[in-house]
Amino acid sequence: MNFGVVLAGGIGSRMGNVDKPKQFLSIGDKPIIVHTVEKFVLCGEFEKIIVLTPEQWIGHTKDLLKKHLTDMDRVAVIQGGAVRNETIMNAIKYIEDEYGLDDDTIIVTHDAVRPFVTYRIIEDNIKAAEEYGACDTVIPATDTIVESLDNELISNIPDRSKLYQGQTPQSFKAKELKETYESLTDEEKEILTDAAKIYVIKGKKVHLVDGETFNIKVTYPYDLTVAETLLKGVN
Ligand code: CTP
Repeated sequence: MNFGVVLAGGIGSRMGNVDKPKQFLSIGDKPIIVHTVEKFVLCGEFEKIIVLTPEQWIGHTKDLLKKHLTDMDRVAVIQGGAVRNETIMNAIKYIEDEYGLDDDTIIVTHDAVRPFVTYRIIEDNIKAAEEYGACDTVIPATDTIVESLDNELISNIPDRSKLYQGQTPQSFKAKELKETYESLTDEEKEILTDAAKIYVIKGKKVHLVDGETFNIKVTYPYDLTVAETLLKGVN
């Protein structure tokens, strides 16, 4: 069974002083989170799409999705966690409680604030997770990446041909992800920036899936302008 996991548990602090988390801001005629969930609903590959938000935004999210989606049967809105990986663990717990977890349960985890994900990217994620157990969506790095260990001097300029920018979805066999996460120490959990790193620090393989340059994450106010422009381009 495949499950979509839309991560909307953050508060969007880098967006600055707005009255709601960035996933609820609108681009075009509807909130960002609605654009994103629609992509997963249209895909048709998911038993359920689990949307995770801060507790106080659950009711609002249900109302928004009911207003914009014709079919809510395959959508569940539940509480996210204190950090992103805890949000993913809440989704896995929901699946375990409602359906049970087996070795072939796949989760496609995706940032709610990446509304331009495509059917092709989602399909490629499902296939790669089925075949390899874990995958991450990436695009080749276009800028030269400069490393500075002291934030003053360059310590290294890695070979750009081996560098990628991470996007989402990141997809996994859910049981293995849960077991691997639970095997980490608290110190290891603290250095995690995303879910793929859970595997990387344990020396487990994560396969690459091609993303798209337009699969942007809305992080700063400027990204809203870019997102509005992209939306005009794709419609
Ligand atoms: N996220 C989540 N649960 C958390 C934290 C983040 O589901 N506890 C989600 C966000 O809602 C977002 C995605 O993970 O869709 C990517 O994270 P990021 O862009 O860092 O979002 P925020 O944490 O909301 O933003 P900021 O870091 O600016 O506060």
